[in-house]
Amino acid sequence: MKPLPVLVLCLLLLMQCGKKESGDATPTPAPTSPKTPPSTTLRQAAPFPMGAAVNINLLKTRAAYSSVVKTEYNSVTAENAMKFGALHPSEAVYTWTDADYLVEFAQQHNARVHGHTLIWYKSLPNWVTNYPGNTAAWENLMKTHIQTVVAHFKGKVAAWDVVNEAFEDDGQLRNSIWRQKLGVDYIARAFEYAHQADPAALLFYNDYGHEYNLTKRTAILDLVNNLKSRGIPIHGIGLQMHTSSNIANANLANAIQTAAQTGLTVHLAELDIAMNRDGVATATFTPALAAAQKDKYKAVVQAFKALPAAQRYGITTWNVGDADTWVRGYCSCPDWPLPFDENYQRKPAYDGMVEALH
Ligand code: G3I
Repeated sequence: MKPLPVLVLCLLLLMQCGKKESGDATPTPAPTSPKTPPSTTLRQAAPFPMGAAVNINLLKTRAAYSSVVKTEYNSVTAENAMKFGALHPSEAVYTWTDADYLVEFAQQHNARVHGHTLIWYKSLPNWVTNYPGNTAAWENLMKTHIQTVVAHFKGKVAAWDVVNEAFEDDGQLRNSIWRQKLGVDYIARAFEYAHQADPAALLFYNDYGHEYNLTKRTAILDLVNNLKSRGIPIHGIGLQMHTSSNIANANLANAIQTAAQTGLTVHLAELDIAMNRDGVATATFTPALAAAQKDKYKAVVQAFKALPAAQRYGITTWNVGDADTWVRGYCSCPDWPLPFDENYQRKPAYDGMVEALH
């Protein structure tokens, strides 16, 4: 598409073009791939849903943020608004306002909503961590939470991360409050309860580390294969992909491929690529880092795109712009892990994604 106008330009400006070819004294930048035309967006370019985790407060208050979310993405996940503590702050109280706002936003802009997350060991309200009930009461607590939430969003939320991060890094099942109170098979029952509440929703197991921790990955894949073999309603596997520039492309591709070998649909559920893993307080985002990040984003998207179409649930980045990332708070350091910068301008990482999608 592009060569024709350039050729015409060269013919019209023969002298100038000839000068460049014969070696102008003016230094020219190293060749880079063309920037994505402004008219192209991720949701247009991708043959599968492209998503972002959304901070509802930013969605409500920052015009540039909501503009990028609605133009670039056709899938959204609440970064925090559908977690246990946010939706169910005390036993008899459910607070739907923020989550409903996101669902309505998604409906207005033809985006899918991915539900995150029903059962996790974090972001629990005090009434749960201090809950005094016996095993039956705990079972009822889990079942009631899952079924109330899934029923509230029935027909509006396409899929749920039913259980999140159930494994430790050593591959052992995490000794979460759910496991302590309900035994190791709480995971299977959580899926069954969710399925009863919305039989049409896709149900995911979501975790991190597939691309750098073989022991944990094996444990996760064993779990989901076990659930499948028992007829437990599990449909998808979420690879969080909070990753970094030092993870080899082969490891990223391997993680994605082995997840697909389960036969489940695959979600790159929380993608971001940290560029300051050592937490250097004075680090800056150099052009070299931007280029390296672009290559890594491209490699991740290429590996995902290589999956069978029926198993490509989609790719979700964990928030939108670098100012909004959880990574900065986590490391208390500068970092730039997302495809948009602090001003919601596209970074080279964005171009890398689009190049892989085409
Ligand atoms: O809502 C309160 C607010 O009222 C209070 O003023 C403020 C003071 O710190 O805290 C606010 O809550 C914080 C919340 O983010 C909203 O900003 C919590 O303290 C903070 O712990 C919470 O962090 C979130 C974290 O999960 C824990 O839920 C991050 O934003 C979110 O990015 C992160 O996301 C997780 C995924 O769910 C699972 N995978 C890993 C990923 C990154 O840690």
